[in-house]
Amino acid sequence: MNRSDFGDDFIWGVSTAAYQIEGAHNLFGKGESIWDHFVNKRGRILNNDKGNISCDFYNRFEGDLALMRAMNISNFRFSISWSRIFPDGTGRPNQMGVDFYNRLIDQCLELNIQPWITLYHWDLPLALENLGGWTNRDIVFWFGQYVSFCISAFGDRVKNWMVLNEPMVFTGAGYFLGVHAPGKKGLSNFLAATHHAALCQAEGGRIIKSLRNDLSVGTTFSCSYIQPCSNKEKDVQAAKRIDTLLNRTFIEPLLGLGYPSQDLKAIRRIENFMKADDENRLKFDMDFIGIQNYTQEIVSHSYFTPFLKAKIIKANERNVERTSMNWEVYPESIYQMLKKFSLYEGIKKLIVTENGAAFKDEVMHGEIHDTQRKEYLQKYITEVLRAKQDGINVQGYFVWSFTDNFEWAEGFLPRFGLVHIDYNSQKRIIKDSGKWYKSFLKIN
Ligand code: FCB
Repeated sequence: MNRSDFGDDFIWGVSTAAYQIEGAHNLFGKGESIWDHFVNKRGRILNNDKGNISCDFYNRFEGDLALMRAMNISNFRFSISWSRIFPDGTGRPNQMGVDFYNRLIDQCLELNIQPWITLYHWDLPLALENLGGWTNRDIVFWFGQYVSFCISAFGDRVKNWMVLNEPMVFTGAGYFLGVHAPGKKGLSNFLAATHHAALCQAEGGRIIKSLRNDLSVGTTFSCSYIQPCSNKEKDVQAAKRIDTLLNRTFIEPLLGLGYPSQDLKAIRRIENFMKADDENRLKFDMDFIGIQNYTQEIVSHSYFTPFLKAKIIKANERNVERTSMNWEVYPESIYQMLKKFSLYEGIKKLIVTENGAAFKDEVMHGEIHDTQRKEYLQKYITEVLRAKQDGINVQGYFVWSFTDNFEWAEGFLPRFGLVHIDYNSQKRIIKDSGKWYKSFLKIN
């Protein structure tokens, strides 16, 4: 497999997110976000880790971009921290935050690296969470102001925008299970957050296009190939419910198909949060859809799981290869997901905006021989090529992640980077997987 197999215009990059890499969490005028707050609650994050400093990207971005350039990477996906721009969520912008992103964008362009910006990668300003956050419908208005500001400030230089990162994960983990910030639970919080996030993804797209019609607008979705654990009808039906929840809840309203409640009774009550004309407001014609895939899930029927009556059988309970996230290594999943999304009418193009793996790394004589990560990437990228050769319109691929970083509730333990970080010295070392990506990307 070579880069040239994908064609000259295929986009290759790396992905990151603000809270996971930036650090400088309470400096240069930044306001508190729900993640800054959540990490201080004892027992929520593995080892009580915090992203306060993390990779110190805020202060080290020039060095990191130089490294990226040296690795032949010419597309960089990062997110804007809402509370760095609006410390209180709305109101007066923080000029130091705006200047930071201007420097970052300008430096990317200077090095001929295209910036790809995600507007929301989970770090809601705490001031807005205190008003209900994603459960409050006013978020459509708050988010709109934030999006307008970012496009006016940066849209002259940044061509590619993503509205939300994985809404299913931030609503599910943050407002239903309570394992991510802000730690809310229950079906009602979840359905309210879901509907408002779905409104924001469309509204965000409309605002971007109304301000600058020349920009390319997308949004990203987590997705996993779902298979039942047996051929029994109840397991097959359980798998269908999980597939509906995880893979269809956000894409279908965006495409004008409404919420898939005929296949998942539990989400019918979302109607309680809908107003007249919302069906229309949920629709938006994106230029591209970002697919984020890591693994597959095996599902069984379960009487004891409320609402879903289905459960995911964890990878360590099956005899399969897995990563330090306890996610199964299953390369065909990415092929299946590209295929599934390509079957929807109305999706113009797909870009893999995240894929990668966490494995335990060992530094030996200044090198990291991360063979498993390298092979994981090679196998998944091969499946992307297979999809492309089948005629599926996939036009790009971004590795999660450029460097090791703060992995949410799992803290600093899982390492996803192509580049290793020593969090004490902040020293960067390119892993073997990073060296492989560099040579793969090299144009002869
Ligand atoms: C995705 C997130 C990203 C990262 C990877 C491992 O769900 O979008 O921030 O944590 O998983």
